[in-house]
Amino acid sequence: MLPSMTVLLTLVSLTCGENPAIQVILKNKGLQYGKEVGAGWIQEKLELITLPDISGVIKLGFLGKVYYTLTGITITKCDFPEPTVEFYQDATGFKTSSLGLSVHGCDLYVNLGKDPDGRLSVTSISCDARVGEVDIRFHGGASHYFPFVDHFKGRIKSDIEGKICPTVEESILNVESHLQAMNVSFDVNQDLTIDLPLTGLPVIDASSLNLGLKGEFYSIKSPAEPPFEAQAFTIPEQQGYMLSMGLSEFTLNSASYGYFSAGLLKALINDSMIPPSSPVRLNTSSIGQFIPQLPKMFPDLLMSLQVYAREIPLFSFLPGAVKLGFQGAVKAFAIQANKTQTPLFKLNVDTQLSGKVWIASGKLKGSLKMDNFTLTLAASEVGPFKVQYTNQSYFKRSWTTICVFTNFKKSNILGKGVEIPRMRQAQLVNTVLQMEEGFIAIFSDAQVLLTLGGFN
Ligand SMILES: *[C@@H]1O[C@H](CO)[C@@H](O)[C@H](O)[C@H]1NC(C)=O
Ligand SMILES: *[C@@H]1O[C@H](CO)[C@@H](O)[C@H](O)[C@H]1NC(C)=O
Ligand SMILES: *[C@@H]1O[C@H](CO)[C@@H](O)[C@H](O)[C@H]1NC(C)=O
Ligand SMILES: *[C@@H]1O[C@H](CO)[C@@H](O)[C@H](O)[C@H]1NC(C)=O
Ligand SMILES: *[C@@H]1O[C@H](CO)[C@@H](O)[C@H](O)[C@H]1NC(C)=O
Ligand SMILES: *[C@@H]1O[C@H](CO)[C@@H](O)[C@H](O)[C@H]1NC(C)=O
Repeated sequence: MLPSMTVLLTLVSLTCGENPAIQVILKNKGLQYGKEVGAGWIQEKLELITLPDISGVIKLGFLGKVYYTLTGITITKCDFPEPTVEFYQDATGFKTSSLGLSVHGCDLYVNLGKDPDGRLSVTSISCDARVGEVDIRFHGGASHYFPFVDHFKGRIKSDIEGKICPTVEESILNVESHLQAMNVSFDVNQDLTIDLPLTGLPVIDASSLNLGLKGEFYSIKSPAEPPFEAQAFTIPEQQGYMLSMGLSEFTLNSASYGYFSAGLLKALINDSMIPPSSPVRLNTSSIGQFIPQLPKMFPDLLMSLQVYAREIPLFSFLPGAVKLGFQGAVKAFAIQANKTQTPLFKLNVDTQLSGKVWIASGKLKGSLKMDNFTLTLAASEVGPFKVQYTNQSYFKRSWTTICVFTNFKKSNILGKGVEIPRMRQAQLVNTVLQMEEGFIAIFSDAQVLLTLGGFN
């Protein structure tokens, strides 16, 4: 039996104001892989179809009328021909694009779209199935009296044909209901949530299906739009991969803004947090080596430091490198015997960090090093002192230590490495990463772990 099938996914692409910060592109290689997985699944589905009982009457010449009922009609084997699938760009104007899967004789038209909340939506517009050849075997009952197979062929064939489209449509509805149940935002930790709705309708060209996602982090406590926007970008062509993905620096910067606006890029440091090995302690005598008047004004008092980001730390993605500008400040206090914190001075700490991002053992990893470190005295309650007289290399090391103690560490997720997202049904393999101006491009193959039957 050869049910034949053409699936056309039609899409309408419209322009939309918001630039996607994340792009996911399904390439032809991925489409072909999806076809192999999908064809096996459709075949499995067809073999699970049960057909209704057939009752009727046949006039058999001298034998007279024969009343019959065929029960338990099942499809025992379904030879599914190798389907062909390709991206198909409709040239009839109106920016309508289609994705075509054809297996001879079953035409299915499916619309890919976007619902008002930005979820991908799949709807079937029309379906027409034709079955090639039917081979029928009878078992049990009075079946040995029925060598009249041909009489039933047409009936069973049309019953099967009548079942294919409802089954396919039911599966599309099933996929659609899964899509509708999907969340378009996810909490990544207790502080941040990420918004991933489609920014526009899916776009298909001759070789790919392109999905644009918002890809913006928000603070859970104080969600607000950052004072910058996602810039448009184009992922370079890279042959031989199933998927291409692009991640704009905007996504990282929105996370940075989320932490900053929620007041999480700050910390209080006291002497008990300074490593015991440090030759410099956080007290007025010890800091007196840099500010001679300090121990005279505040003899032998413990100190505390308030460390915070003055501006939103911003990442810039460049070919081969990531840069991070961090403008911080340190406010120093003397802790009086009655626990009062007396302000002493404020230093501005401006650092420029640069790093690299790569993929190793299934994790997105990164490294940052300090390129530039500038310390300036912003305010002093202990009289003027020259910051350039202080040991900048010591402060540089301390600053790194301080950064480790502050919540800034939380946003420095790159150090530990981030698991490449992996779903229950699929994972990415052969993944490579390329730094570009304003975005990171990722090229990858995918591997389906479970059959799509897991959708049921
Ligand atoms: C969607 O989000 C809600 C609330 O955050 C959660 O309760 C639900 O389990 C999520 N659904 C899925 C499918 O992840
Ligand atoms: C230092 O800070 C920690 C955490 O905030 C606190 O538990 C500790 O008591 C403080 N130590 C001093 C000496 O103030
Ligand atoms: C301050 O630090 C010095 C070491 O630099 C230490 O000898 C002294 O005991 C400390 N003073 C206080 C009050 O902790
Ligand atoms: C705490 O002690 C300092 C220094 O002795 C003094 O100036 C300040 O007024 C005191 N504060 C309180 C609330 O007692
Ligand atoms: C370091 O920062 C200062 C101030 O922002 C700047 O003038 C200087 O050019 C920077 N140096 C390097 C090597 O980036
Ligand atoms: C600055 O501090 C570092 C580390 O404590 C030390 O090795 C270096 O000699 C100091 N430099 C000066 C000029 O004091």
